[in-house]
Amino acid sequence: MKKAFVIGHPIAHSQSPLIHQSWIAEHGLEASYEAIEIAPSDLAGLVARLRGGEFVGGNVTIPHKEAVMGLIDEVDPLARRIGAVNTLVADNGKIWGTNTDYIGFLANLDAQASGWDEALGSAVVIGAGGASRAILAALVDRGVPRIELINRTLGRAQALADEFGPTIVPGPLSEIGLRMAGAGLLVNTSAVGMKGTQFNGLDLSPLAQGAVVTDIVYTPLITPLLAQARAEGFASVDGLGMLLHQAVPGFRAWFGVAPAVTETLRNRVLAALGQ
Ligand code: ATR
Repeated sequence: MKKAFVIGHPIAHSQSPLIHQSWIAEHGLEASYEAIEIAPSDLAGLVARLRGGEFVGGNVTIPHKEAVMGLIDEVDPLARRIGAVNTLVADNGKIWGTNTDYIGFLANLDAQASGWDEALGSAVVIGAGGASRAILAALVDRGVPRIELINRTLGRAQALADEFGPTIVPGPLSEIGLRMAGAGLLVNTSAVGMKGTQFNGLDLSPLAQGAVVTDIVYTPLITPLLAQARAEGFASVDGLGMLLHQAVPGFRAWFGVAPAVTETLRNRVLAALGQ
């Protein structure tokens, strides 16, 4: 029996068990995937259990994504660049870690807005937290020539621009309209959109015609930003797809089967989220 986990603190809200258990059932595997509540003081103990062979691997979520990097044997270059590990794989007593948010973000856009990166002159990214780092790395690697990085706290955007290179142009939230001019992609990586929050007075009209607007927030599925984008005729891509796609590489590494992101799975998760 191959066992995998998701660890976090808190962990009750995680949709990862539903996603992986659906795939385990679909492929008829002798396997399990469970959510385990792990306080920061217990993280090293859990890693020791993984190293000892109790599990084949697992996912890591808040608040352990950075701390776990110091406890495992190998952090792949991508996760090191992003500064966080969300997927662990045990291999002959050694543990390596990667970050699948990068591939989840790209796979979701590729699936829902095919061609989004063709002739893309510039993109606007809102937010400079942990989620932003994976998305900036992904956009830089796809060759997006200019990325306007907008954040409430300008200093955090500046720090990311210093780290991720000259294609990142930092700016304050007050300049978002200006920075959106002609952009073909707008990504919200900030927490705005959750719990009834929204960007006030946001004007999307400077975006390029046919621009794609995407949000990593998926509760609600259609955030105020996505609703506005739809109403104004832009393409919109919700954040649930990123959650589903980021789960694929882990499942494949642990269980040796490439799972599919289907409409059925999506609907199952939506139902669990009460939407
Ligand atoms: P995560 O790891 O999920 O990205 P985070 O590191 O806490 O979380 O980052 C949250 C992001 O949302 C930040 O960019 C934050 O802006 P600040 O750097 O100024 O804190 C942004 N954010 C959160 N609430 C916001 C709000 N009400 N308005 C604008 N930006 C907000």
